[in-house]
Order: sequence, then structure tokens, then C-alpha cells
Amino acid sequence: MANDVDAILSQLTLEEKAALVTGDGFWHTTAIERLGIPAITLSDGPHGVRRQPPEQENGIGGSFPATCFPPAVGLASTWDAELVERIGAALGDESNALDVQVLLGPGVNIKRSPLCGRNFEYFSEDPLVAGELATELIRGIQSKGIGTSLKHFAANSQETDRFRVSADMDERTAREIYLAAFERAVKGAAPATVMAAYNKLNGAYATEDHWLLTDILRDEWGFDGVVVSDWGAVNDRDAAVAAGLDLEMPESEAGPAAIVAAVRGGSLDEAALDAAVRNVLDLVFDHAHLKADASRKLAVPDDMVNAHHALAREAASRAAVLLKNEGGILPLSPESSIAVIGEFARNPRYQGAGSSQIEPTRLDDALTEIRKVAGAPVTFAPGFTLDGGGDAGELLREAVAVASAAQVAVVFLGLPSAAESEGYDRENMDLPANQLAVLAEVVAANPNVVVVLSNGSAVRVSDWDAGVRAILEGWLLGQAGGGATADILFGVTNPSGRLAETIPVKLEDTSAYLDFPGRDGHLEYGDGVFVGYRWFDARQLPVSYPFGHGLSYTTFEYSGLSTSVEGEDADPSVHVSVTVTNTGHAAGREVVQVYVAAPSAEVRRPLNELRGFDVVPLEPGESREVSFTLGFRDFAYFHPTLKRWYVESGPVDILVGASSRDIREQGSVELRVSEPVVPLDRQSSLAEWTKHPGGAQVLAGLLQQAAAQNPDAVGMFQNEELMAMMGSMPLRRIGRFPGIGLTDEQVDGLIAQANAAV
Ligand code: BGC
Repeated sequence: MANDVDAILSQLTLEEKAALVTGDGFWHTTAIERLGIPAITLSDGPHGVRRQPPEQENGIGGSFPATCFPPAVGLASTWDAELVERIGAALGDESNALDVQVLLGPGVNIKRSPLCGRNFEYFSEDPLVAGELATELIRGIQSKGIGTSLKHFAANSQETDRFRVSADMDERTAREIYLAAFERAVKGAAPATVMAAYNKLNGAYATEDHWLLTDILRDEWGFDGVVVSDWGAVNDRDAAVAAGLDLEMPESEAGPAAIVAAVRGGSLDEAALDAAVRNVLDLVFDHAHLKADASRKLAVPDDMVNAHHALAREAASRAAVLLKNEGGILPLSPESSIAVIGEFARNPRYQGAGSSQIEPTRLDDALTEIRKVAGAPVTFAPGFTLDGGGDAGELLREAVAVASAAQVAVVFLGLPSAAESEGYDRENMDLPANQLAVLAEVVAANPNVVVVLSNGSAVRVSDWDAGVRAILEGWLLGQAGGGATADILFGVTNPSGRLAETIPVKLEDTSAYLDFPGRDGHLEYGDGVFVGYRWFDARQLPVSYPFGHGLSYTTFEYSGLSTSVEGEDADPSVHVSVTVTNTGHAAGREVVQVYVAAPSAEVRRPLNELRGFDVVPLEPGESREVSFTLGFRDFAYFHPTLKRWYVESGPVDILVGASSRDIREQGSVELRVSEPVVPLDRQSSLAEWTKHPGGAQVLAGLLQQAAAQNPDAVGMFQNEELMAMMGSMPLRRIGRFPGIGLTDEQVDGLIAQANAAV
């Protein structure tokens, strides 16, 4: 293919350039046949391929069958980088089979509130888990030549008013939490495209935000792919080009017209348009060779369907999280008499609603799969309907009857599809009342109740948890979730999922509770960096189940933590190793988590932050040493005044454990990093002067002079209480006091002297 981009660019008319940076229909880039520029296809994404048949390309509605893997909420709870990368490769293969060149995902927005209707499509409340797993998914997909679209850039953590709302936060919060997962994935996996979000960030539409799309994404992080708009996210097309948004999707008449008018009118520099055209051409030429021949039937081949269904089952069996297991009621004995209750057992909720909805190649339900594994007959009662209709009394009576006659009742509860979706948020964290009513009666009828949950985001369990013996949090497990659930219930697989989001006791405890979902077009991020476990830990709030938690049918012991520091100064590197032993009787997988705490930080920091994790498979009795290397960024915070990542010298605790609240081994290292000192200025306080090495010297000099002239002034500086009271006062203002009499010019001189001394 002739792809000399410079030569092509010189031959394009202004109108053609504007057309090239705008979609054709819902899912294609624009072809320009006279110059041999083909079109490529972009399609959702992210946990399966949603390729619409060519005659039905309307954005919504049906698509060709494709494997529905667990959505991000499920993938995240595997914490399993290797598995996620394999799923990525499978998605790449299916994209090729369905003639899709760019798969629209993954989404790495941070789960700030359990209410966000789209949490199922996002990984975690923690940017490391989100960024790391997204990196692996992108690597897997792109290993097959297929491009990805890292979305929704940025701060699209709620659906309410998503086309207009402004996410308002300080830069430290943005850098440490809401941009961090994007940064990791951009630097680690170079996604072919990044999707600019619908919302605004601090008042600027993400699609028009030069700071976000150019200064940070391209100039700082080195992104060199295409920035594509979320579908319909462009507000002012010419402003978007100037900010660094390359491709507007889908097709629009207004977009190209605005670009042409702005270039002709002189308000848009054609060079900015050329840069966007170049990026789009690179994307097209990098992927066009993968396009299917027009005569090829678009379908996932049968052998791939089978292999990927098995992979989806493996993923689902690693995603479900065993929250509690009182008295070891699980795994169930195949010989026990079991009653299965709950409509979800035969009518699974396995993915979320909206643009990511996949038409699965198959669909397993838990009831059929449980019956395949169980040795004794399994009774069933639906207990409730998903839409709340039907004869509630009769449904309840049936449920109680089967529950009373069985040794164990396995109750499938969850959020019906309409309860959470792209496009809107939930209003509360509760399971539907009709389901809770059935659960209460079943608990009264049988002391051995196991609950299996299907939900895309945390639900409240605290009001019924005490009455049940086990809870398996299934999240949304994709098309093979039914089989995976049966495998876990009977111990065919040992659960190894861990929570990538905290399960709070109640909604009122969550960090966004008072802000969500904003007012007057603004959503305050008043909780700052304190999101998820960072919040619950800082506020010392009880939680139902903490971040990182998940039980196994075996037990693990941690021992022999060792920590050492190398390469100090600008590039500290801390080696951490710990031995994990399987001390139980079943083979299992432990997710080892490393948290870092900097107790002496100058700014308020979270008590501890996840900085590493690894999945360790262990046979009974087996031990393994697990190692991690932590670097500069693992100890840094984003300095609000220096506007850069900053590490403070001092002690740092290294905490290794099985959840954010189950720390098993703890060590400490001393970091000595020479960082630039924040310069003093006219507003610097007395306390800042005394902490600043040059400032302290200058003050000492001043004191000596003062001692010579006015002994009272010295007294003031030696009076600790007075100094504490005056600590927040800028030196310049103290200088104006009677008897001190420093002019602004003199203060400027002292500032220059102090800053020059470091
Ligand atoms: C969603 C994106 C999706 C796009 C295309 C938008 O509504 O926010 O995630 O990729 O539609 O379907």
C-alpha cells in the first residue's frame, strides 16, 4: 500500500482533510479513493467484539455473535495480568474474524462511587489495578495487529449528565488518581487510540482540552496515536482540532464544515489540522492490511468459539470472589441435597447494558451447570422475577418450600439489567426489595444459606450478611459464568478472585456521597485523592469487605519479608521479597499485595497505597518467594506547588498482605532523595522560611542583626508559643510591624538570597 503520508498530505484538499478526520457512518473512518486511502473499522468493545452487520450499522442494536468474556469488573477481580493478556489476544483474534481493526476499549475510569452505572465496564477504585490490567489487555489485543482505544479520557466516573458535567478537581487528585491508570497504560502498552470523554474536566470539554490531549497525553506521556472522540462527544469541532483531538466519531456534517470554515477564516491553523490528518493516516495505514476481503463471511469460526468459551470459563472462575465462608460450608458436597433459588440461576446476568453489550456465542446458566456437577437431585424455585412482576406470594411460597426441604439453599441474587447501565447511575446501593424479601424467608427456613451475587458494582450486603453462611460475589462473569460458578460451589476450582473495589457498609460511608452526582453542571471531587480504600482507611470506617479481600478453600502464610534500598537520590529502587506458603489441603492461588505508607509526608497522603501485586499459584505445602521492585513513582506524590512528582526523604513502610486490611508482614526503609526545595516567595510564611535551608540561614542572620539593634525582637523569635502562632504569617507582613520595618525591596532581597543558597 502506498503510504507516504507526507506525499498524500500534500495532495489532499482542505475538504478532504476535514473529511478524513471525521468518521464515515457509525464505525468507519473515511476512505478517499482517488488517493488510495482505505477506510478501517472501529467497534465496541471492550470485553467482546460488538460488530454490527453492515446493513444494521445504527450504533445500537444487534451484532454478530462473539465471545462475551467477563466485563472489566470481573477481569479486575482476577488481578491476573497473564490471564488478562490472553483474553486480549483472544479479543484480537475475534476482531480479525469480524473485520474490526480497532476495538473500542478498555475503559480505565476510576470507580469513585458504587452508584456509577458504568462501573461494570471499569476495573477498579485503584489506579494501579486499573492501569496494570488495562496494559495487559491492550498488549494482548495489539499483539494480533488490532488497535485499541483507551477510554474515557478523563474523569468520566459518573454517567449522570455525562455530556456536560464538569469534573472539578485539583491537579494532584487528577494526576495521582484519575489520570494515573491512563498514564500507565499509555506508557506501558501504547494503545493505538485514546478516546476523549464526553464530560468536562475543570470546565473544559475533554475533547477541547489542550492541557489534557496535548500537554499531558502527547508531550508528557509520549502518546503518538490517534485521539478519537467518544461517540458524539465533540462540542466545537475547530476547538477540538486545536486542542489535539484527531478523529471525530461518528460521521457528522457539522464537523468537517466547521473545520473548513475555521481554516478559511484564519481561526484554526491548518498545521493543527495536518497533524490530525497525519495521525489518522498512520492509524489507517497501520491497520488497513488486516481488512477482510469483501467476500469473506464475517463470523467467529467454530474452533475459536469453543476455545474462547473455555477461556471465558477460566476467566470467570478466577473472577468470582468468595467473600465469606462460615464453617467452611463451601465447597458443597455433591451428595448434599441442594435447593437453588433465584431467577438469576437460570437467567444469568452476565454483562452490562449499553454500548458494550455483546451478542454471546453461547450462554451457560448456573442451574444447568450445578445439576451437571451435583450427585443428588437439585430443586429450583425462581423466588422473584427480574422486573418485579408476577405473583410475589406464590414465588415466595415455592422458594420457602424448596429451601426447607434441602440441606443447603443456594440463593442467586443481583441487580437486574435495568438497574445499572451506561447512560445513568443508580440511586442506591441496595439489592431490589423483592429479592431481599425472599432471602429473609429462605434464611428463616434453612440455616445453611449460600448467596451468589451478580452485579456490576458493589451492592449493600451489611443488612443481610449475618444471616447467611457464605457469599460468592460473582460480579458479571461473561457467557461462561454459569459453569465457573458451579465449579467454585463444588470445589472443582478453588476461588482466587479478590476485590478490586471495597464493599462499603452503607452508601453514606463512601467518599463521593455528598458530591455525587453534582449540581449546576459541576461535580466536586471534594474527596481528593481519598477514593475507595484510601478514604475508608483514612476515615477509619468499618467496611463490609475491604479492597483486596477474597477467600480460598486453602490457607496461605506469609513469612520472611526482606526490603532493601538501592540507587538513592533521584532514582531510589526498593526491592521487596516475601515467602508465601500454601498451608492448607487444596491447590490455590494467592494474590500477594504490596502497599506503601509514607507516615511523615508533608502533604496529607493516604495511609497506604497499593504499589504492587502478583498472583501466586501454590500446591498444598508449597512455598514460593515473590519479589517486587518499587521505584520513584511508587513513593512519589504530585507536588501541588512544584507541579511535579516528588519524593520526600524519610521512613517509608512496606506492607505486604492479603488485602488492604489484612497486612501479614511489615518492614520499613529509609529514603534519602535530594529533591529541589520549593522556592520562597513574597507570600512564604515564617514556618516555610524556617523549614527552607536557605531561608533558615537568612533568618539566623537577621536575628543576629536584630540582637544588635533590638533585644526585644530576639525575644520574640525565641518565644516558641509566639512563633507557633506567627508561623502562618508571611515574612513580608511581619516585616511591616513596628520595630521591624522591612521594606518590600528588602524582603525581595532576602528571598533572592535564601533561594540562591540552596
Ligand atoms: C460510549 C463508548 C463507546 C461508543 C461507541 C459511547 O456512548 O461511551 O464507550 O465506545 O459509544 O459505541
